[in-house]
Amino acid sequence: VPEINRRRVLTVGAALGLASVVNPSAAWSWSPSASVSGSGSGVDPQWVWDDDIDRIMASVIDNGQVPSVNNAIESWVHNHQPVPSGLPPELAAFLEDATQLPPWADVAKLRRAADFNRRKDTYLFMIYGIGGGIMSTVIPREARSVYWSKGGADMQDRAAKTFTFGYDQSDINAFEPNGEMLVTANKTRMVHAAVRHMLPNSPYWSAVADEEIPISNADILVTFHSTGTFAHKKLKDWRVPMSPADEEAFLHLWQVSLHLLGVRDEYIPATWAAAHAQSEQVLTPILAPTPEGKELAEVLLGLTAQIDLGVTRGFLNEFVRYQLGNDVGDWLGLRRDYVSAGVIRAGWPTYIAFREGLLPIMPRTFYMFDQFVRAIAMAFLNRGESGTTTAITIPDMNRPG
Ligand code: HEM
Repeated sequence: VPEINRRRVLTVGAALGLASVVNPSAAWSWSPSASVSGSGSGVDPQWVWDDDIDRIMASVIDNGQVPSVNNAIESWVHNHQPVPSGLPPELAAFLEDATQLPPWADVAKLRRAADFNRRKDTYLFMIYGIGGGIMSTVIPREARSVYWSKGGADMQDRAAKTFTFGYDQSDINAFEPNGEMLVTANKTRMVHAAVRHMLPNSPYWSAVADEEIPISNADILVTFHSTGTFAHKKLKDWRVPMSPADEEAFLHLWQVSLHLLGVRDEYIPATWAAAHAQSEQVLTPILAPTPEGKELAEVLLGLTAQIDLGVTRGFLNEFVRYQLGNDVGDWLGLRRDYVSAGVIRAGWPTYIAFREGLLPIMPRTFYMFDQFVRAIAMAFLNRGESGTTTAITIPDMNRPG
Protein backbone atom coordinates (compact mmCIF):
# COMPACT_ATOMS: atom_id res chain seq x y z
CA VAL A 1 0.00 0.00 0.00
CA PRO A 2 1.49 3.35 -0.94
CA GLU A 3 2.33 5.51 2.06
CA ILE A 4 -0.01 8.28 0.94
CA ASN A 5 -2.93 5.88 0.86
CA ARG A 6 -2.12 4.57 4.30
CA ARG A 7 -1.92 8.07 5.72
CA ARG A 8 -5.21 8.96 4.12
CA VAL A 9 -6.83 5.95 5.72
CA LEU A 10 -5.45 6.89 9.10
CA THR A 11 -6.57 10.50 8.98
CA VAL A 12 -10.02 9.64 7.69
CA GLY A 13 -10.36 6.95 10.32
CA ALA A 14 -9.38 9.44 12.99
CA ALA A 15 -11.85 12.00 11.65
CA LEU A 16 -14.64 9.45 11.89
CA GLY A 17 -13.51 8.68 15.41
CA LEU A 18 -12.30 5.15 14.72
CA ALA A 19 -9.70 3.85 17.10
CA SER A 20 -7.75 1.76 14.66
CA VAL A 21 -7.79 1.18 10.97
CA VAL A 22 -6.78 -1.83 8.99
CA ASN A 23 -4.73 -1.90 5.82
CA PRO A 24 -6.99 -1.19 2.81
CA SER A 25 -5.55 -4.06 0.82
CA ALA A 26 -5.99 -6.54 3.65
CA ALA A 27 -7.93 -9.67 2.87
CA TRP A 28 -11.33 -10.28 4.41
CA SER A 29 -10.70 -11.63 7.88
CA TRP A 30 -13.93 -10.93 9.72
CA SER A 31 -14.95 -14.17 11.37
CA PRO A 32 -18.38 -15.75 10.82
CA SER A 33 -18.31 -16.66 14.49
CA ALA A 34 -19.24 -13.02 15.17
CA SER A 35 -22.30 -13.26 12.89
CA VAL A 36 -25.95 -13.98 13.59
CA SER A 37 -25.51 -17.52 12.29
CA GLY A 38 -22.35 -18.08 14.33
CA SER A 39 -20.62 -20.00 11.58
CA GLY A 40 -20.04 -19.90 7.85
CA SER A 41 -17.65 -20.42 4.98
CA GLY A 42 -15.63 -17.27 5.63
CA VAL A 43 -15.68 -16.50 1.89
CA ASP A 44 -14.95 -12.82 1.17
CA PRO A 45 -18.41 -11.22 0.66
CA GLN A 46 -17.13 -9.06 -2.19
CA TRP A 47 -17.46 -12.22 -4.30
CA VAL A 48 -20.97 -12.99 -3.08
CA TRP A 49 -24.05 -11.55 -4.77
CA ASP A 50 -27.64 -12.84 -4.66
CA ASP A 51 -27.69 -15.77 -7.09
CA ASP A 52 -31.35 -16.81 -7.20
CA ILE A 53 -32.94 -13.40 -7.58
CA ASP A 54 -30.08 -12.26 -9.84
CA ARG A 55 -30.88 -15.09 -12.26
CA ILE A 56 -34.62 -14.44 -12.05
CA MET A 57 -34.33 -10.70 -12.65
CA ALA A 58 -31.86 -11.23 -15.49
CA SER A 59 -34.50 -13.35 -17.18
CA VAL A 60 -37.22 -10.75 -16.47
CA ILE A 61 -35.08 -8.09 -18.16
CA ASP A 62 -33.95 -10.24 -21.08
CA ASN A 63 -37.54 -11.26 -21.77
CA GLY A 64 -38.85 -7.71 -21.73
CA GLN A 65 -40.99 -8.35 -18.65
CA VAL A 66 -39.95 -5.26 -16.63
CA PRO A 67 -43.13 -3.28 -17.47
CA SER A 68 -45.43 -6.17 -16.56
CA VAL A 69 -43.54 -6.83 -13.31
CA ASN A 70 -43.72 -3.14 -12.39
CA ASN A 71 -47.40 -3.22 -13.18
CA ALA A 72 -47.94 -6.27 -10.97
CA ILE A 73 -46.02 -4.87 -7.98
CA GLU A 74 -47.49 -1.37 -8.10
CA SER A 75 -50.36 -2.08 -5.71
CA TRP A 76 -48.27 -4.49 -3.60
CA VAL A 77 -47.43 -2.33 -0.59
CA HIS A 78 -48.38 -3.84 2.77
CA ASN A 79 -46.86 -6.83 4.53
CA HIS A 80 -50.24 -8.51 4.85
CA GLN A 81 -50.84 -8.48 1.09
CA PRO A 82 -50.11 -11.72 -0.74
CA VAL A 83 -47.40 -11.77 -3.37
CA PRO A 84 -49.19 -10.25 -6.39
CA SER A 85 -50.44 -12.29 -9.29
CA GLY A 86 -49.15 -11.65 -12.77
CA LEU A 87 -45.49 -12.29 -11.93
CA PRO A 88 -43.34 -14.92 -13.64
CA PRO A 89 -43.85 -18.08 -11.53
CA GLU A 90 -40.25 -18.35 -10.36
CA LEU A 91 -40.27 -14.71 -9.21
CA ALA A 92 -43.53 -15.26 -7.34
CA ALA A 93 -42.08 -18.37 -5.68
CA PHE A 94 -38.94 -16.49 -4.70
CA LEU A 95 -40.95 -13.66 -3.13
CA GLU A 96 -43.19 -16.09 -1.19
CA ASP A 97 -40.07 -17.21 0.60
CA ALA A 98 -38.15 -13.95 0.77
CA THR A 99 -40.99 -12.00 2.41
CA GLN A 100 -40.79 -14.22 5.52
CA LEU A 101 -38.86 -13.01 8.55
CA PRO A 102 -35.76 -15.11 9.26
CA PRO A 103 -36.20 -17.72 12.03
CA TRP A 104 -33.91 -15.72 14.32
CA ALA A 105 -36.01 -12.53 14.06
CA ASP A 106 -37.33 -11.38 17.43
CA VAL A 107 -40.63 -9.57 17.03
CA ALA A 108 -40.44 -7.99 20.49
CA LYS A 109 -37.05 -6.49 19.62
CA LEU A 110 -38.37 -5.21 16.31
CA ARG A 111 -41.21 -3.48 18.14
CA ARG A 112 -38.78 -1.95 20.57
CA ALA A 113 -36.64 -0.78 17.63
CA ALA A 114 -39.66 0.90 16.08
CA ASP A 115 -40.30 2.72 19.33
CA PHE A 116 -36.62 3.65 19.61
CA ASN A 117 -36.69 5.04 16.08
CA ARG A 118 -39.61 7.21 17.03
CA ARG A 119 -37.99 8.47 20.23
CA LYS A 120 -34.70 9.32 18.53
CA ASP A 121 -36.01 10.23 15.11
CA THR A 122 -34.65 13.79 15.04
CA TYR A 123 -31.09 12.60 15.56
CA LEU A 124 -31.54 9.74 13.12
CA PHE A 125 -32.77 12.11 10.41
CA MET A 126 -29.67 14.25 10.91
CA ILE A 127 -27.34 11.25 10.90
CA TYR A 128 -28.89 9.34 7.99
CA GLY A 129 -29.88 12.38 5.97
CA ILE A 130 -26.72 14.43 6.28
CA GLY A 131 -23.97 12.09 7.52
CA GLY A 132 -24.91 8.79 5.89
CA GLY A 133 -26.33 10.38 2.76
CA ILE A 134 -23.18 12.34 2.03
CA MET A 135 -20.92 9.48 3.12
CA SER A 136 -22.47 7.39 0.35
CA THR A 137 -20.89 9.81 -2.14
CA VAL A 138 -17.37 9.00 -0.94
CA ILE A 139 -17.94 5.24 -1.17
CA PRO A 140 -16.58 4.83 -4.72
CA ARG A 141 -18.42 1.68 -5.76
CA GLU A 142 -21.71 3.00 -4.45
CA ALA A 143 -21.25 6.45 -5.98
CA ARG A 144 -20.34 5.06 -9.40
CA SER A 145 -23.19 2.57 -9.53
CA VAL A 146 -25.76 5.07 -8.32
CA TYR A 147 -24.51 7.72 -10.75
CA TRP A 148 -24.49 5.45 -13.80
CA SER A 149 -27.76 3.62 -13.14
CA LYS A 150 -31.10 4.94 -14.33
CA GLY A 151 -31.93 6.83 -11.13
CA GLY A 152 -28.63 8.70 -11.16
CA ALA A 153 -30.01 11.04 -13.76
CA ASP A 154 -32.82 12.19 -11.44
CA MET A 155 -31.39 12.39 -7.95
CA GLN A 156 -34.44 14.06 -6.48
CA ASP A 157 -36.58 11.08 -7.44
CA ARG A 158 -33.91 8.64 -6.36
CA ALA A 159 -33.48 10.31 -2.99
CA ALA A 160 -37.24 10.13 -2.52
CA LYS A 161 -37.17 6.38 -3.23
CA THR A 162 -34.34 5.84 -0.79
CA PHE A 163 -36.37 7.77 1.77
CA THR A 164 -39.14 5.23 1.20
CA PHE A 165 -36.83 2.55 2.52
CA GLY A 166 -35.81 4.61 5.54
CA TYR A 167 -39.36 5.61 6.21
CA ASP A 168 -40.71 2.05 6.02
CA GLN A 169 -37.83 0.74 8.09
CA SER A 170 -38.36 3.33 10.85
CA ASP A 171 -42.13 3.08 10.81
CA ILE A 172 -43.78 2.02 14.04
CA ASN A 173 -45.51 -0.83 12.15
CA ALA A 174 -42.52 -1.72 9.96
CA PHE A 175 -42.81 -5.50 10.28
CA GLU A 176 -46.45 -5.69 11.42
CA PRO A 177 -49.11 -6.82 8.94
CA ASN A 178 -50.06 -3.24 8.13
CA GLY A 179 -46.42 -2.16 7.82
CA GLU A 180 -44.51 -2.12 4.53
CA MET A 181 -40.98 -3.23 5.23
CA LEU A 182 -41.20 -6.83 4.04
CA VAL A 183 -42.46 -5.58 0.68
CA THR A 184 -40.13 -2.57 0.37
CA ALA A 185 -37.04 -4.60 1.23
CA ASN A 186 -37.97 -7.16 -1.43
CA LYS A 187 -38.64 -4.52 -4.07
CA THR A 188 -35.21 -3.10 -3.24
CA ARG A 189 -33.69 -6.56 -3.54
CA MET A 190 -35.26 -6.92 -6.99
CA VAL A 191 -33.94 -3.49 -8.05
CA HIS A 192 -30.43 -4.41 -6.92
CA ALA A 193 -30.62 -7.68 -8.87
CA ALA A 194 -31.75 -5.77 -11.97
CA VAL A 195 -28.84 -3.34 -11.58
CA ARG A 196 -26.38 -6.24 -11.32
CA HIS A 197 -27.61 -7.49 -14.68
CA MET A 198 -27.77 -4.15 -16.51
CA LEU A 199 -24.98 -1.97 -15.15
CA PRO A 200 -22.16 -4.14 -16.58
CA ASN A 201 -23.55 -3.17 -20.01
CA SER A 202 -23.07 0.54 -19.33
CA PRO A 203 -19.97 1.72 -21.20
CA TYR A 204 -19.73 4.67 -18.78
CA TRP A 205 -19.80 2.51 -15.66
CA SER A 206 -17.48 -0.09 -17.16
CA ALA A 207 -14.94 2.60 -17.99
CA VAL A 208 -14.61 3.65 -14.34
CA ALA A 209 -15.61 0.60 -12.30
CA ASP A 210 -13.04 -1.57 -10.52
CA GLU A 211 -15.39 -4.55 -10.46
CA GLU A 212 -17.38 -6.62 -12.95
CA ILE A 213 -20.67 -6.92 -11.07
CA PRO A 214 -21.92 -4.26 -8.65
CA ILE A 215 -23.71 -4.52 -5.28
CA SER A 216 -22.01 -7.50 -3.67
CA ASN A 217 -22.83 -8.60 -0.13
CA ALA A 218 -19.75 -6.64 0.96
CA ASP A 219 -21.09 -3.47 -0.67
CA ILE A 220 -24.41 -3.83 1.14
CA LEU A 221 -22.58 -4.31 4.44
CA VAL A 222 -20.60 -1.14 3.69
CA THR A 223 -23.87 0.75 3.24
CA PHE A 224 -25.14 -0.64 6.53
CA HIS A 225 -22.02 0.68 8.24
CA SER A 226 -22.35 4.11 6.62
CA THR A 227 -25.93 4.31 7.93
CA GLY A 228 -26.79 2.01 10.86
CA THR A 229 -23.35 1.51 12.39
CA PHE A 230 -22.51 5.17 11.81
CA ALA A 231 -25.76 6.18 13.53
CA HIS A 232 -24.92 4.01 16.53
CA LYS A 233 -21.48 5.61 16.71
CA LYS A 234 -22.77 9.17 16.44
CA LEU A 235 -25.53 8.64 19.02
CA LYS A 236 -22.85 7.39 21.40
CA ASP A 237 -20.46 10.25 20.54
CA TRP A 238 -23.24 12.77 21.06
CA ARG A 239 -24.16 11.19 24.39
CA VAL A 240 -27.75 10.62 23.37
CA PRO A 241 -29.19 8.47 26.15
CA MET A 242 -29.90 4.88 25.02
CA SER A 243 -30.56 1.81 27.14
CA PRO A 244 -28.71 -1.42 26.32
CA ALA A 245 -32.06 -2.88 25.22
CA ASP A 246 -32.55 0.07 22.85
CA GLU A 247 -29.12 -0.41 21.33
CA GLU A 248 -29.72 -4.10 20.86
CA ALA A 249 -33.13 -3.53 19.32
CA PHE A 250 -31.71 -0.96 16.89
CA LEU A 251 -29.06 -3.45 15.80
CA HIS A 252 -31.68 -6.14 15.41
CA LEU A 253 -33.71 -3.95 13.07
CA TRP A 254 -30.65 -3.67 10.85
CA GLN A 255 -29.84 -7.38 11.10
CA VAL A 256 -33.29 -8.26 9.83
CA SER A 257 -33.11 -5.56 7.15
CA LEU A 258 -29.79 -6.92 5.87
CA HIS A 259 -31.19 -10.43 5.73
CA LEU A 260 -34.19 -9.19 3.75
CA LEU A 261 -31.82 -7.39 1.34
CA GLY A 262 -30.10 -10.69 0.58
CA VAL A 263 -27.02 -10.49 2.79
CA ARG A 264 -26.04 -13.95 4.02
CA ASP A 265 -26.47 -14.51 7.73
CA GLU A 266 -22.80 -15.43 8.11
CA TYR A 267 -21.85 -11.79 7.38
CA ILE A 268 -24.45 -10.09 9.56
CA PRO A 269 -22.79 -8.94 12.79
CA ALA A 270 -24.29 -10.40 15.95
CA THR A 271 -23.26 -7.51 18.23
CA TRP A 272 -22.43 -3.84 17.93
CA ALA A 273 -18.83 -4.63 18.80
CA ALA A 274 -18.71 -7.04 15.86
CA ALA A 275 -20.40 -4.47 13.63
CA HIS A 276 -17.89 -1.76 14.49
CA ALA A 277 -15.01 -4.18 13.93
CA GLN A 278 -16.44 -5.10 10.53
CA SER A 279 -16.99 -1.44 9.67
CA GLU A 280 -13.35 -0.63 10.35
CA GLN A 281 -12.39 -3.43 8.02
CA VAL A 282 -14.76 -2.77 5.12
CA LEU A 283 -15.82 0.87 5.24
CA THR A 284 -13.11 3.18 6.51
CA PRO A 285 -10.32 1.96 4.22
CA ILE A 286 -12.31 2.42 1.02
CA LEU A 287 -13.60 5.98 1.45
CA ALA A 288 -12.34 8.15 -1.41
CA PRO A 289 -13.55 10.90 -3.73
CA THR A 290 -14.64 10.18 -7.29
CA PRO A 291 -15.94 12.60 -9.96
CA GLU A 292 -19.32 10.82 -9.74
CA GLY A 293 -19.43 11.11 -5.96
CA LYS A 294 -18.55 14.81 -6.01
CA GLU A 295 -21.37 15.53 -8.41
CA LEU A 296 -23.83 13.44 -6.41
CA ALA A 297 -22.86 15.25 -3.19
CA GLU A 298 -23.38 18.61 -4.86
CA VAL A 299 -26.82 17.55 -6.11
CA LEU A 300 -27.84 16.14 -2.72
CA LEU A 301 -26.65 19.19 -0.78
CA GLY A 302 -28.28 21.46 -3.35
CA LEU A 303 -31.60 19.63 -2.87
CA THR A 304 -31.28 19.88 0.90
CA ALA A 305 -30.41 23.55 0.68
CA GLN A 306 -33.66 24.14 -1.25
CA ILE A 307 -35.61 23.37 1.91
CA ASP A 308 -35.93 26.35 4.21
CA LEU A 309 -33.58 25.16 6.94
CA GLY A 310 -33.22 28.56 8.54
CA VAL A 311 -29.46 28.27 8.03
CA THR A 312 -27.06 29.02 5.21
CA ARG A 313 -25.46 26.60 2.77
CA GLY A 314 -22.21 27.30 4.64
CA PHE A 315 -23.82 26.01 7.82
CA LEU A 316 -24.98 22.88 5.99
CA ASN A 317 -21.46 22.34 4.62
CA GLU A 318 -20.06 22.63 8.12
CA PHE A 319 -22.61 20.23 9.54
CA VAL A 320 -21.39 17.68 6.98
CA ARG A 321 -17.81 18.38 8.04
CA TYR A 322 -18.82 18.09 11.71
CA GLN A 323 -20.20 14.61 11.09
CA LEU A 324 -17.74 13.29 8.50
CA GLY A 325 -14.53 15.19 9.16
CA ASN A 326 -12.49 17.63 7.11
CA ASP A 327 -10.92 15.10 4.77
CA VAL A 328 -14.31 14.20 3.40
CA GLY A 329 -15.34 17.87 3.39
CA ASP A 330 -12.21 18.77 1.41
CA TRP A 331 -12.66 15.89 -1.06
CA LEU A 332 -16.13 17.16 -1.81
CA GLY A 333 -14.90 20.75 -2.05
CA LEU A 334 -17.33 21.99 0.62
CA ARG A 335 -16.66 25.68 1.05
CA ARG A 336 -15.59 26.55 4.59
CA ASP A 337 -17.66 28.71 6.89
CA TYR A 338 -15.59 29.02 10.06
CA VAL A 339 -18.20 30.98 11.98
CA SER A 340 -20.78 28.24 11.44
CA ALA A 341 -18.16 25.60 12.28
CA GLY A 342 -17.63 27.27 15.65
CA VAL A 343 -21.35 27.58 16.31
CA ILE A 344 -21.89 23.87 15.55
CA ARG A 345 -18.95 22.66 17.62
CA ALA A 346 -20.10 24.61 20.64
CA GLY A 347 -23.85 24.49 20.13
CA TRP A 348 -24.75 21.00 18.93
CA PRO A 349 -23.64 19.15 22.10
CA THR A 350 -25.51 21.64 24.29
CA TYR A 351 -28.57 21.42 22.03
CA ILE A 352 -28.69 17.66 22.60
CA ALA A 353 -27.99 17.96 26.31
CA PHE A 354 -30.81 20.47 26.78
CA ARG A 355 -33.22 18.47 24.64
CA GLU A 356 -32.49 15.32 26.61
CA GLY A 357 -33.08 17.12 29.92
CA LEU A 358 -29.41 16.99 30.91
CA LEU A 359 -28.87 20.75 30.97
CA PRO A 360 -30.93 23.11 33.14
CA ILE A 361 -30.50 26.28 31.07
CA MET A 362 -31.54 26.64 27.46
CA PRO A 363 -28.50 27.38 25.29
CA ARG A 364 -28.63 30.62 23.28
CA THR A 365 -28.41 28.73 19.99
CA PHE A 366 -31.15 26.24 20.89
CA TYR A 367 -33.83 27.66 18.60
CA MET A 368 -31.54 27.87 15.62
CA PHE A 369 -30.59 24.20 15.92
CA ASP A 370 -34.17 23.27 16.66
CA GLN A 371 -35.41 24.92 13.48
CA PHE A 372 -32.68 23.22 11.47
CA VAL A 373 -33.46 19.80 12.94
CA ARG A 374 -37.19 20.23 12.44
CA ALA A 375 -36.77 21.28 8.85
CA ILE A 376 -34.66 18.20 8.10
CA ALA A 377 -37.20 16.02 9.91
CA MET A 378 -40.13 17.57 8.06
CA ALA A 379 -38.43 17.04 4.74
CA PHE A 380 -38.21 13.39 5.66
CA LEU A 381 -41.66 13.00 7.20
CA ASN A 382 -43.42 14.88 4.43
CA ARG A 383 -41.76 12.49 2.06
CA GLY A 384 -41.13 15.20 -0.46
CA GLU A 385 -43.69 17.63 -1.69
CA SER A 386 -46.32 15.14 -2.78
CA GLY A 387 -46.84 13.81 0.74
CA THR A 388 -46.84 10.21 -0.45
CA THR A 389 -44.03 7.73 -0.73
CA THR A 390 -42.43 7.39 -4.12
CA ALA A 391 -43.00 3.85 -5.34
CA ILE A 392 -39.92 1.74 -5.93
CA THR A 393 -39.90 0.38 -9.46
CA ILE A 394 -37.60 -1.96 -11.35
CA PRO A 395 -35.37 0.04 -13.70
CA ASP A 396 -35.33 -1.03 -17.37
CA MET A 397 -32.19 0.81 -18.42
CA ASN A 398 -28.97 2.48 -17.28
CA ARG A 399 -28.29 6.19 -17.18
CA PRO A 400 -28.19 7.12 -20.86
CA GLY A 401 -24.99 9.12 -20.58
C1 HEM B 1 -31.73 1.14 -5.57
C2 HEM B 1 -31.73 0.86 -0.73
C3 HEM B 1 -27.21 -0.81 -0.89
C4 HEM B 1 -26.92 0.74 -5.45
C5 HEM B 1 -32.14 1.14 -4.25
C6 HEM B 1 -33.47 1.43 -3.80
C7 HEM B 1 -33.46 1.40 -2.45
C8 HEM B 1 -32.13 1.04 -2.03
C9 HEM B 1 -34.62 1.68 -1.52
C10 HEM B 1 -34.67 1.69 -4.69
C11 HEM B 1 -34.76 3.10 -5.02
C12 HEM B 1 -34.53 3.36 -6.44
O1 HEM B 1 -34.96 2.59 -7.30
O2 HEM B 1 -33.92 4.38 -6.74
C13 HEM B 1 -30.53 0.31 -0.35
C14 HEM B 1 -30.17 -0.11 0.98
C15 HEM B 1 -28.91 -0.61 0.94
C16 HEM B 1 -28.46 -0.47 -0.43
C17 HEM B 1 -31.08 0.02 2.20
C18 HEM B 1 -28.05 -1.19 2.02
C19 HEM B 1 -28.28 -1.17 3.31
C20 HEM B 1 -26.74 -0.48 -2.13
C21 HEM B 1 -25.36 -0.62 -2.54
C22 HEM B 1 -25.28 -0.16 -3.82
C23 HEM B 1 -26.60 0.24 -4.22
C24 HEM B 1 -24.28 -1.17 -1.68
C25 HEM B 1 -24.10 -0.08 -4.74
C26 HEM B 1 -22.87 -0.33 -4.40
C27 HEM B 1 -28.21 0.94 -5.89
C28 HEM B 1 -28.55 1.27 -7.25
C29 HEM B 1 -29.95 1.34 -7.30
C30 HEM B 1 -30.42 1.10 -5.95
C31 HEM B 1 -27.57 1.45 -8.38
C32 HEM B 1 -30.85 1.55 -8.51
C33 HEM B 1 -30.91 2.92 -8.97
C34 HEM B 1 -31.72 3.12 -10.20
O3 HEM B 1 -31.72 2.41 -11.20
O4 HEM B 1 -32.37 4.09 -10.19
N1 HEM B 1 -31.35 0.88 -3.16
N2 HEM B 1 -29.46 0.07 -1.17
N3 HEM B 1 -27.45 0.04 -3.17
N4 HEM B 1 -29.34 0.84 -5.13
FE1 HEM B 1 -29.43 0.40 -3.19
